[in-house]
Amino acid sequence: MKKNFINKKSKLSLLFIVFSIFTIFGCTPENNQSTFGTAGPIASSQADLFILIFAIAVVVFIAVEAALIYISIKFRRREGDKLPYQTHGNKKLEITWTIIPAVILIFVAVPTLVGIWSQQNGVPDDKGQVLNIEAVGHQWWFEFRYSDYEVITSNELHIPKGRPVSFKLSSQDVIHSFWVPKLAGKVDMVPLNDNYIWMIADEVGEFYGQCAEFCGTSHAHMRFRVFVHEEEDFLAWVDQMHTPADPPMPNTPESRGQMLFAANCSMCHTNNSTTPGSYIMEINTQDARWNNWVDDTENSALVSAPNLTHFGTHTTLGSGIKELNHENLVEWIADPSTIKQGTRMQKQAMVYNTRDGKANLTDSEISDIAYYLLSLKPGSGAEMVIDDIPSDGLIDAEAVFATNCAACHSLGNDVIVGPGMGGIKDRAGDRVSGLSAYEYIYESIVEPQAYIVEGYPPVMPAWASLGDETVNALVEYLLTLE
Ligand code: CUA
Repeated sequence: MKKNFINKKSKLSLLFIVFSIFTIFGCTPENNQSTFGTAGPIASSQADLFILIFAIAVVVFIAVEAALIYISIKFRRREGDKLPYQTHGNKKLEITWTIIPAVILIFVAVPTLVGIWSQQNGVPDDKGQVLNIEAVGHQWWFEFRYSDYEVITSNELHIPKGRPVSFKLSSQDVIHSFWVPKLAGKVDMVPLNDNYIWMIADEVGEFYGQCAEFCGTSHAHMRFRVFVHEEEDFLAWVDQMHTPADPPMPNTPESRGQMLFAANCSMCHTNNSTTPGSYIMEINTQDARWNNWVDDTENSALVSAPNLTHFGTHTTLGSGIKELNHENLVEWIADPSTIKQGTRMQKQAMVYNTRDGKANLTDSEISDIAYYLLSLKPGSGAEMVIDDIPSDGLIDAEAVFATNCAACHSLGNDVIVGPGMGGIKDRAGDRVSGLSAYEYIYESIVEPQAYIVEGYPPVMPAWASLGDETVNALVEYLLTLE
């Protein structure tokens, strides 16, 4: 009997208690997602409220437990005791133990309600110039739109220290929750019903964000980072976001990566939202991609996706999961689900339409794309002249098409993302009066956004970077298609 004193259940309970104690170590203020090491007034007022309520609870706990222990010992049944005198209804006692909890609840409720009201009322107008950001939740990443500055980022948020930041929260698919534990509480991101939250960061630094509402397979992997800068550094960052990246030097991994990116990734990922007008265009494009996916979730080759402008300046990939470096990026591109289960990228993009779901690219192609993405940083601001690459006059337009265009355009009449190219010479001449078929096709390649045909999503990137000679060869080739 004594041998089995610590039976299986007791062992499990003991294990559970030890485990629970260890999880408490996650609450240390230094932990990245601890709500105790606060760095802003909203987070600290919430932490203060927690500590106040916790202190009241501790006092109640000690008083009740002490009384319980004292009474159990003092009035325990002794040998020879008779049944005590039985009573019912003691008015004094009942009034006392109704009033005491009511008073305790008042002490809890008043500061709680004051806190809720002050935080729900929007940004107070005495705290400085408000920065407005729209945060959009997607399965499973965050999009940030800076309407004041026409900047779009994904998964990495930059804000100035000391200035109130007002967030309009929405979701494109399911309910998510926006949470930066050290800066502010959490508020749900609900589709078709905008919510608001504001925060002020008191310290420069890097802070963790996390989706706090179960939203599907990769909910736990839906994170983001907040970088708090001094005001002038923040404004410099905004400036950088409006400075285009330098185009890659010809015949480098980056330049090959650029072509591969354009052919395989650019239908869903914009990576050049630096110019005037690119902000609103990206929002429209993102909506178009989304609607395309909603219309046919099984077969759509498009879906809204993180904006990769100046991706090379990011510190993480896969929405805050892994450090951004070449090795991790290669792993991510080759087979995203090794890092994050269930990405729409792997499910929808043509390039993953393979038997094993891995990218239909060679190791060196994946490496080139990764080098290209890592090279996306604010450039010198100087215009660079792009050479027409082949100088022997022989451009294999069919190969150019296969590499750069075939992911979206078939050679016949099938619609992949954009229209099929079969018989284009017969219809291109009638599209825009004053433009011949040749001119129309040429213009549609170098400046596609001006010539989107009704019914197609405005997602085609500009291909001027192919160079004049190559584009001309491509046009001639397209005009031969029956
Ligand atoms: Cu989004 Cu959980």
